[in-house]
Amino acid sequence: MPGLMNKEIIFFGGKGGVGKTTCSSAYSLNLARKGYKTLVLSTDPAHSLGQIFQVQMGDEPRKLDANLYGIEIDPEVESKRYINRIRQQMQGSFSVNIIAEIQRQLDAAYHSPGAEEAAIFDRFIEVIDLVGKEYQRIVFDTAPTGHTLRLLSLPELMDRWLQGMIERRRNVNEMMRMASVVDKSLEERIKDDPVMRILLDRKQRFEKAKKFLIDDKRAGFVFVLNPQQLPILETEKAISFLERNGIPVEGVIINRVLPEKTDGEFFKKRKEVEDRYMKQIEEKFGDRILYRIPLMEYDISGYESIDSVARIFG
Ligand SMILES: Nc1ncnc2c1ncn2[C@@H]1O[C@H](COP(=O)(O)OP(=O)(O)OP(=O)(O)O)[C@@H](O)[C@H]1O
Ligand SMILES: [Mg+2]
Repeated sequence: MPGLMNKEIIFFGGKGGVGKTTCSSAYSLNLARKGYKTLVLSTDPAHSLGQIFQVQMGDEPRKLDANLYGIEIDPEVESKRYINRIRQQMQGSFSVNIIAEIQRQLDAAYHSPGAEEAAIFDRFIEVIDLVGKEYQRIVFDTAPTGHTLRLLSLPELMDRWLQGMIERRRNVNEMMRMASVVDKSLEERIKDDPVMRILLDRKQRFEKAKKFLIDDKRAGFVFVLNPQQLPILETEKAISFLERNGIPVEGVIINRVLPEKTDGEFFKKRKEVEDRYMKQIEEKFGDRILYRIPLMEYDISGYESIDSVARIFG
């Protein structure tokens, strides 16, 4: 799939358990073997990239294979880190009162809807900044569809979250400005407001990511699905959602396809059922079908089984 190979950033999405981690790690291995220095990144709280490559994963890149590195991000840990990072940036330069006030603002930010996504997205922006520099390709193994779509509806969601924070901050500053007429000490707070500066900085970063995702079309989305009803429906919905939001969808990978020849009556019937779903997939997604991956005899975990899938990607 030359089109897909040219994308610098590829997201693997899909319903829970369809094979996102399997496909994204195999695809990454394939990229690495083709000579692209690749980073594979998982935002799934149920970590499993590490299991496949038998490497203890973490927040910083670990080597998984020649040319291949991996990161696992824990959204909860990441949002704490995110808030702490902002907090640290503030230390030192302001009076105790102001820091206490910033602290309250940050706590509110941490608990407001969208904070976890903002944190992951912040890390995501850091990571995409590495493409073309440290890495030639970045592959995202995402969490099941709902979560990921929330993450990727960022142009809207994040803008709204940040805009809310910015407006709230603006109101606070406006009240302080009025109060500073009688209390001169408040002037320091509104002059070059650090919270506002950080919020505006975040907004700028989000806009940069949006440009990368949507405008430059250097990123693309691949859906993994199984020949079953629910994954088909979910994929259909997700694709139309992404397209409405201007995020390019590269295509779908059908995973766990039964072999052509099956033993016994049970599998013969099962195969007939599957054929009906395969037909549906062809009708709905047609030339967007990128690969068909057979159901293997064993669970895919560990290097050898990933290797067999990587070969399918050619
Ligand atoms: N083609 C296949 N043949 C056999 N087993 C498979 C195949 N694809 C995936 N599996 C197995 O199915 C299970 C789920 O796969 P995987 O972890 O890749 O799914 P996922 O979409 O990442 O799941 P989650 O939504 O929980 O992150 C794993 O145990 C994996 O080994
Ligand atoms: Mg997974």
